[in-house]
Amino acid sequence: MENNQSAFETEVNRLPIKKSSFFYNNGKYRIPKFEKGSETKQVSDLFVTKFPKLVANGHTELLTLGSNSDPLKQISSRRIAVLFSGGPASGGNNVLAGLVQLLLPYHTVLGILDGPGGLLKTSLLKGSLIELTEKQIAAYLNLGGFDFLGTGRTKLKTNDQLNQVKLFVSQNKIDGLIIIGGDDSNTNAAILAEALFDLNCTVIGIPKTIDGDLQYGDQLPISFGFDTATKVYSELVGNLMKDAKSVKKYWHFIKLMGRNTSHVTLEVALQTQPTITLITEEIIKKGHSLDDIIKDIVDVIKNRAQRGLNYGVIVLAEGLIEHISNDIKGYLSEYDSSVLLDHSDDHGHYPLSSIRTEELLGKCIEIALKGSDVLFTPRYHFFGYEGRCSVPTRFDAWYCYHLGLTAAALVLGGHTGYMASLKDLDSGGVPVGIPLMDLFQTVSGTLSVIKQVPVSLDSPAFHYFQSRRDGWAKSDCFVSPGPIQLWGPLSSQLPLIVVLNQGYSSVSEY
Ligand code: FBP
Repeated sequence: MENNQSAFETEVNRLPIKKSSFFYNNGKYRIPKFEKGSETKQVSDLFVTKFPKLVANGHTELLTLGSNSDPLKQISSRRIAVLFSGGPASGGNNVLAGLVQLLLPYHTVLGILDGPGGLLKTSLLKGSLIELTEKQIAAYLNLGGFDFLGTGRTKLKTNDQLNQVKLFVSQNKIDGLIIIGGDDSNTNAAILAEALFDLNCTVIGIPKTIDGDLQYGDQLPISFGFDTATKVYSELVGNLMKDAKSVKKYWHFIKLMGRNTSHVTLEVALQTQPTITLITEEIIKKGHSLDDIIKDIVDVIKNRAQRGLNYGVIVLAEGLIEHISNDIKGYLSEYDSSVLLDHSDDHGHYPLSSIRTEELLGKCIEIALKGSDVLFTPRYHFFGYEGRCSVPTRFDAWYCYHLGLTAAALVLGGHTGYMASLKDLDSGGVPVGIPLMDLFQTVSGTLSVIKQVPVSLDSPAFHYFQSRRDGWAKSDCFVSPGPIQLWGPLSSQLPLIVVLNQGYSSVSEY
């Protein structure tokens, strides 16, 4: 049979993962025990209404490893099911590896095929579940993609769907469910934790999304997949910068994935130091219209042109279009904003990736520059899907493996309605369990869905960027970070936003 693994993938597949002593000591794996804090948290009525069983049973408090907590004693055999949900993100296979490592051979691990929709296929029980073995998972270790189990974006919201999931769980005798996903998928996880409570099926979420908008202060500094995706994009942006500076005639407009938030764009800007970076959260906060954005860009273009610099690199977040779509019609009569409104997915998201915001912006600037003698030749790019299935960085490979170990320990400890996470990423990582309900946002007095956390304009990472960007606009400060490093001194770099937000005053200090 054809071997579909490249020589590179074979080498990467063999790379060892440094194991945390919380899970591995004296040559043996151990299952640590999580504990609640000593103070009882006051829970508001909103939580009681939405998650009555989770609240009544105390699944509301942050779980940490107690200083004198003993490893969990071996418990009776369980059947744990796991699924990928939403867009792919690098490192997912290592989550499975962590799970399997801690759970086999005493417990059974089942993979649910094609995302949350797989939970609804009660008539195709055999077809939507596979039993995972160490050998199978080992073949995917350190490799990108969700192709092993597949993924999907089905939102579980109706009572009929929840009843189907209950049937699935009881017919397949599932004791634990692990959902690897972003904000929408972990909203599903919280709802399922409540719905499956009486069936004694625990539910744990794993923070996945390249968008980086699933965060919870120090307890969850970043989701997995973000580091890999931003390093892939940074390499490409760095290459374009070299090109721009070589031929000196193009303005590169680069849209970056990330849905409504600009974490990806901020990280790529910190990695590469573009001429102009558009952070949607800042534009919204300042109340800037499209006119303001165009004016700012045109000022930089003209200023550089006066000094003979008829080129540059502009990075922008894909979510910007939601803010400027109405204004754009004023500039470009042919622009049909109905694409924004027509095709939202199950979770109410519009197809931001398919709208060529970079081109619309470039066209507006062409119009604004008409009549001037400035040389302006735009080139357009969108980097998104390229970064979702790359071989994971060493950070994502390590992080995901430990998220898998953490989720396995949480399930075996009988915890439900939690997200597995690791804090203190700069110093080896400490596992924690975050109550999923703490991640929800309140809309019109009710808990709606898990919040997509925006870029904080008060964060150290944003301040760092803000204090330098004027210099980047005037003269070329382009940085080309090169391809992801899997071996050698640069292979252990964390995302720069994590490093800066953790209190390091510069990237080199870390
Ligand atoms: P998740 O939040 O599910 O991880 O997906 C994020 C994302 O990659 C966004 O950045 C992007 O807008 C969207 O998925 C694209 O979705 P699709 O795969 O449906 O085109």
